[in-house]
Amino acid sequence: MKLPEKGQDWPAIKAMLEERGASDAKWRDGKTAVYVFNAGEEVERVQKEAYTAFMSENGLGPLAFPSLAQMEKDVISMALGLLHGPEGATGAMTSGGTDSITMAVKTARDYARSKGRAKQKANIVLPQSAHLAFDKACHLMDIEVRRIPLKQDGSFEADPVTMGEAIDSDTIMMVGSAPNFPHGIIDPIAALGGVAEDKDVWLHVDACVGGYFAPFARMNGESVPPFDFEVPGVMSMSADLHKYGYAAKGASTVLFRSEELYAFMPFDFAGWSGAPMKTPTLAGTRPGGAISAAWAVMNYLGVEGYRRLQGQVCETRKRAESGLREMGFEIVGNPMLGLMAFHHPDLNPFALYGEIYRRGWFTSVTKEPPSLHLMLSPKHADVIDAYLSDLKDACDAVRSGDAAKKPKVEARYS
Ligand SMILES: Cc1ncc(COP(=O)(O)O)c(C=O)c1O
Repeated sequence: MKLPEKGQDWPAIKAMLEERGASDAKWRDGKTAVYVFNAGEEVERVQKEAYTAFMSENGLGPLAFPSLAQMEKDVISMALGLLHGPEGATGAMTSGGTDSITMAVKTARDYARSKGRAKQKANIVLPQSAHLAFDKACHLMDIEVRRIPLKQDGSFEADPVTMGEAIDSDTIMMVGSAPNFPHGIIDPIAALGGVAEDKDVWLHVDACVGGYFAPFARMNGESVPPFDFEVPGVMSMSADLHKYGYAAKGASTVLFRSEELYAFMPFDFAGWSGAPMKTPTLAGTRPGGAISAAWAVMNYLGVEGYRRLQGQVCETRKRAESGLREMGFEIVGNPMLGLMAFHHPDLNPFALYGEIYRRGWFTSVTKEPPSLHLMLSPKHADVIDAYLSDLKDACDAVRSGDAAKKPKVEARYS
């Protein structure tokens, strides 16, 4: 497309946008279980109105926009209240999980250097199931990534013993997920915390998915193990508001146990022609709308709203698990929140993925072990039975060999 010589009026452009969106996944109907967190129309309305209210404002300028600075402080304070942040704990909002993780890695690296560690090439030690955002961050910062196999006991949890063995004097961080993306499993954070304390290494908990889910699941009586700052070895956490916090996209939090650790995050620079500038995170310009929408949704839902929504998601996952087991599927490990992976002993998951996709479902897959994957939202309570019924048909199609005759559908999480 070339920039048009003459602009067009808004109704014409709006119509074009609608037309472009027409072939996208119809996530509002609940048939999408990846990319989008669907908490219903009311929450979407709050996101939109709160976002547009501060859409042009810039979080880069706290003096110009004290409203945004205060909303960010409020969000961080609400986050730390949920995640057992001790006195003095602090953090910042970022644009998403990858951003939060990148900033946590950078902060841990600079902290380690200040303590005389990582004199050679720095490394981080993480379970094989941890998100690839760590690899991206390490690629940017020329840090070695040591991915360690999971426990071999069918739990699909991180293995604290082998992770401990991989740590050396150049290790700047070890990682646990709460939960990981591929399986939805919460790693044994307390045991990882023990190793981190023994080895004097920074432990980061990637709670991008679970940070705003697990606390409420716990309040609802789910047996979620300790996973946050309650565990003494945890130095930092990433927790995404644009996932199960149901905020508009572009909102995550990166949290630190203390001001002392946080102090290694901001970039403070005066050596250029412009005014000296100190920025807390990777971004320069920080979209005000992402801050105001997150603040608004948190206040709109409150503990009561989140408990209700997360209860709905857990309930839906349990319904899915029992329906899947009836069809002969095996669930990977013991998922406790809204993500799950599952496979059938006799049926190729990627063939099933193709069949379920043809029936209008936008879902994901896991590679190790080869599995189907669901990331459930509150909306899925309405459609999980339809999914199970379509999956049953998909199983029949794959069994009968019909699936093999159709063009392949490539499953990618990107
Ligand atoms: C466990 C986990 N960590 C980090 C991320 C990265 O988050 P984002 O896509 O917001 O950068 C994801 C994304 O799905 C995730 O599931």
